Amino acid sequence: MATRTDDLVEPPDSGRYFSDGVEQFHHPRPVCDGFEPTRQRRRLLAGLSGRVLEIGAGDGVKLACYPSSVDEIVLVEPDQFLRAAARGVAKYLSTPVRIVEGSLRHLPVEDASCEAVVCSLVLCCAAQVGETLEEVRRVLAPGGELRFYEHQRSGNPAVMLAESLVTPLWSRAAGGCQPTRDTVAAIRKAGFAIESLDRFAFRHFSHVLGVARPS
Ligand SMILES: C[S@@+](CC[C@H](N)C(=O)[O-])C[C@H]1O[C@@H](n2cnc3c(N)ncnc32)[C@H](O)[C@@H]1O
Repeated sequence: MATRTDDLVEPPDSGRYFSDGVEQFHHPRPVCDGFEPTRQRRRLLAGLSGRVLEIGAGDGVKLACYPSSVDEIVLVEPDQFLRAAARGVAKYLSTPVRIVEGSLRHLPVEDASCEAVVCSLVLCCAAQVGETLEEVRRVLAPGGELRFYEHQRSGNPAVMLAESLVTPLWSRAAGGCQPTRDTVAAIRKAGFAIESLDRFAFRHFSHVLGVARPS
């Protein structure tokens, strides 16, 4: 279902924004890079087609980067402020966009209904990453793919130590984000085969960008 103008939610007024403060702490905003999608987020979406589900989608900063070969974009985001921001972007797209409330443990879409699931800086926040990846498997259509751009524990012992030291504070300030998580191992453990994988440092943290499919 496309986002219609009458679906749009007004941004919260200052009173509501203030009362949302705790939620903001758990779901950091804004989540974009200087109000532009990063190069990594653009690469993440290249070549997608069909129905695509993005989980923990944030403020919709990536929406404009979805290729025209995508038939429908479904964004799942628990934070109402971020959903409202995403609706503000979605109204400019010709591709139908559905923006729904939901959590990483129970994705509000049917079994085997998506050609791709996009995870961008969100598996690092999942309290139970195995359960989230099980949900991803459930909703992927046969032959479907997981696209991920995520934090990844560094393989360099000195960097790993630095990541471990900052994690307690970082995690509290950044919605539970765990830069020390071995995301690639979690994806494999959940029964995915990794098809492509780039590792790189971004803002001093180790990251991975890749494609995986249920094996
Ligand atoms: C660092 S932001 C990344 C946002 C976006 N994917 C991006 O690339 O800009 C993490 C996102 O995960 C969402 N998130 C955190 N915990 C979640 C949960 N339990 N269920 C669903 N989304 C969650 C947050 O609301 C936030 O939008």
